[in-house]
Amino acid sequence: MDDKTLVAAAFEAREHAYTPYSHWAVGAALLTSDGTVYGGCNIENAAYTPSNCAERTAFFRALYDGHRSFEAIAVVGGPEGQEAPDFCAPCGVCRQVMREFCSLDDFRIILGRSDGQMRTYTLRELLPESFGPENLA
Ligand code: THU
Repeated sequence: MDDKTLVAAAFEAREHAYTPYSHWAVGAALLTSDGTVYGGCNIENAAYTPSNCAERTAFFRALYDGHRSFEAIAVVGGPEGQEAPDFCAPCGVCRQVMREFCSLDDFRIILGRSDGQMRTYTLRELLPESFGPENLA
């Protein structure tokens, strides 16, 4: 699957966002090593802290189904009901969730915009000097 297709899947996932508080809608599309794509959206809550980001929704759906190996995630976000004119980078908590299951140098994080621009990072670039499972081994 090419990056453009994965970003398109993230835009589709964004349509499912539940964002009555921030009005900031995010979509993610997570590509597993066997080629399966899981969409995720942010899901907010009146108590605020139970809100879940798009990236973690995608990861938790895939993890529940037994996937443990991941290639890439595409992320798009912007004001609800509008296009996504800027890149929307994953929050720190989502980066740490990626760190649990993904290779620092091989897992790719692809940010997309409505104008078709894309920017790609490795997990190590977005989460340098990190703490992960092997630190506790
Ligand atoms: N959000 C995500 O879902 N992913 C990101 O990459 C950044 C932020 C959500 C959390 C919250 O629902 C809204 O965007 C505003 O922070």
